Amino acid sequence: MSTFDSAWSQLNAPPAVAATAVSDWRADFPLLRESVHGHPLVYLDNAATTQKPQAVIDAEVAYYLHDNANVHRGVHALSQRATDAYEAARCKVCAFLNAAGTQEIVFVRGTTEAINLVAQSYARPRLHAGDEILISALEHHSNIVPWQMVCQQTGALLRVVPINDAGEFEFDAYVGLLNARTRLVAVSHLSNALGSIPPVARIIALAHAHGVPVLLDGAQAAAHLGVDVGALDCDFYAFSGHKIYGPTGVGVLYGKAALLDAMPPYQGGGDMIRAVTFAKTEYNELPYKFEAGTPNIAGAIALGAALDYVAAIGLPAIAAHEHDLLQYARALLADFPGLHIIGQAQHKASILSLTLDGVHPHDIGTILDRHGIAIRAGHHCAMPVMQRYGIAGTARASFALYNTRQDVEALVAGLHIVAEMFQP
Ligand code: ALA
Repeated sequence: MSTFDSAWSQLNAPPAVAATAVSDWRADFPLLRESVHGHPLVYLDNAATTQKPQAVIDAEVAYYLHDNANVHRGVHALSQRATDAYEAARCKVCAFLNAAGTQEIVFVRGTTEAINLVAQSYARPRLHAGDEILISALEHHSNIVPWQMVCQQTGALLRVVPINDAGEFEFDAYVGLLNARTRLVAVSHLSNALGSIPPVARIIALAHAHGVPVLLDGAQAAAHLGVDVGALDCDFYAFSGHKIYGPTGVGVLYGKAALLDAMPPYQGGGDMIRAVTFAKTEYNELPYKFEAGTPNIAGAIALGAALDYVAAIGLPAIAAHEHDLLQYARALLADFPGLHIIGQAQHKASILSLTLDGVHPHDIGTILDRHGIAIRAGHHCAMPVMQRYGIAGTARASFALYNTRQDVEALVAGLHIVAEMFQP
């Protein structure tokens, strides 16, 4: 089939999910009813953060209205209720990830904190000069910089699996780079800059054959692909609440219990202890050993509500709908003069990163914003990905369950306005 034929058949294909269902989902998100610069908002910056459904907002408000108290500390009714709701949220995360038990679910600030925790508590005590940490060229800064820091602290070396021109993880290079000095593999489950989905099951199987544990950065994947840590058999998994319709400032580190148990605490303070004297401290059991200080109680409860929301729709339906949007956008943009889609991986989800000849990505973002269309422009906290393509940045549209084909059409119309403005 020619490019034209395949684009034409995509444009005429029925949507994967009925438009009425998507419009019902959309109605759950109050912010999507806003206007920006006099235009109805077209929100396509979901990889940066998603909007929140009313159920998530209600859960956070209900906690502050009715249950606000500290957790694990009080015998009074409010503290019991807050503790029950916070621990119920942990159970929801455990079910969402298909973890073996709630002791494997640590609430953190987000993906970044989860990866830093693993770098400092798992890797740092084990690393020696000459040991290696293996990441990929697809990574977000939060899955690069914590490893560079721990390498500086220990004399270990950071090794990087390259990507090909399509933005795909080069598995053959990975096979060559994994060796007797590799102590940990840390890779993205879904690239935030390109949308590429590395072959994580094969990556994990090969690492385990070498006795090497694997951390998956699931910041993007959790909301689009779904996660089954039991089936994946990954050793650590990190994701953020705000990218899966939950609040900012809360996220999750999953770790296999045996690994977490053998790790020292990341931070010291209240709640992570069993007994303290000036001579010594006995640490609390999992997962509380890693939750020093008052946690983001409202955030965790609202994250639980977000996972309920996603589960009620179902990730297969969400993924099918977002795939449809991505294919629809690619078809509409197929003949766009001077437009390049950066990242053409065969396995790809939810992200459309592009450049337009002669136009800086920030100008694309600014002009689209004047038409009510929110995208992200720049390096997307993945500067090495941009370096791989020899570009300063891209304009990135990223899809969520509430986006529609009309949103995609608005984006394409906006890009035509940008192109006309910059035509010589
Ligand atoms: N990591 C987020 C993004 O890709 C902020 O936009």
